[in-house]
Amino acid sequence: MKTIAVYPGSFDPPTYGHLDIVDRSSRVFSRVIVAVARNIRKNVLFTTSERMEMLRKLTRSYSNVEIDSFRGLLVDYARDKGAHVVVRGLRAISDFEYEFQMAHMNKKLAPEVDTVFMMTGERYSYISSNIVKEIAGFGGKIDDLVPPMVREQVLRKIRKGK
Ligand code: PNS
Repeated sequence: MKTIAVYPGSFDPPTYGHLDIVDRSSRVFSRVIVAVARNIRKNVLFTTSERMEMLRKLTRSYSNVEIDSFRGLLVDYARDKGAHVVVRGLRAISDFEYEFQMAHMNKKLAPEVDTVFMMTGERYSYISSNIVKEIAGFGGKIDDLVPPMVREQVLRKIRKGK
């Protein structure tokens, strides 16, 4: 059976933690659609196109991974793509409450779509896009948190903003 999975998120910017989930999802599902959320209420550093472009470059070695974006409800997007699985990474207990609420709400909205959680690899469990931006903003090292290409982009944005 071909299982299509959507891996949604803000990816502002993509981190090694996200790439770990992409890598592992690509081994479990036939097709993985990494879906960049357009209508998030967060303050973003990168435009949707920039986030997609970075993800495209970072995942180009995977033949079953594609990059897309979505607006509106995630479950509507998943349905539109024929996906029955939503993948989310779980780093720590602190992620659980939000993820629990989202998974149940999505299940209520679209009972045919299941959320599958992957525990983010131990080495990446402390990484978040917000932490990356904060550390870089104060001049700290982010080499272990994001790929070199993302690091360059983050530093470029921060220099521009100063
Ligand atoms: O990387 P993030 O910011 O944790 O991703 C959150 C995201 C984008 C997956 C979530 O906010 C989402 O699905 N937004 C789309 C709108 C939606 O469907 N909201 C209802 C969720 S219960």
